Amino acid sequence: MRVIVNGVSHELDVDRNVPLLHVLRDALGLKSVKLGCGLEQCGACKVLVDGAPEFSCRRTVGEFEGMSLVTLEGFANETLHPIQQALLDHNAAQCGYCLSGILIAARALFDANPRPSRREIQIALDDHLCRCGAQPRILNAFCELSANG
Ligand code: FES
Ligand code: FES
Repeated sequence: MRVIVNGVSHELDVDRNVPLLHVLRDALGLKSVKLGCGLEQCGACKVLVDGAPEFSCRRTVGEFEGMSLVTLEGFANETLHPIQQALLDHNAAQCGYCLSGILIAARALFDANPRPSRREIQIALDDHLCRCGAQPRILNAFCELSANG
């Protein structure tokens, strides 16, 4: 089967019933995609699918045949993406485990609307658990990015 990940087309010889997350991590080496709960309840595994954030821990890779996927590795450039820089500026990048999914959700939000409201940001991050207490800094970082957008 074929998937397009971070702009590169891959022909994969994999079991179509394997969760997408495992194919991304194990077959393609994209370790930014994290396994947290495995139950679509924490958001750590989210990736962009045709521009929309989707869980990858339970849905099978076969469901994504021919679709265009983006992981955090796909953000990489010579400079950080503004949403990454915003977290750094607010000292909000605490654990590196939940943040991949949070950045995926934020990327989808800001790509669709460069000036989201605080409430819209909260809704976009609603699927994402952060256990360390960084949520206020994460939210403030994205609110300031929106204000400057
Ligand atoms: S690992 Fe997918 S939502 Fe938690
Ligand atoms: S920043 Fe990852 S759990 Fe809080």
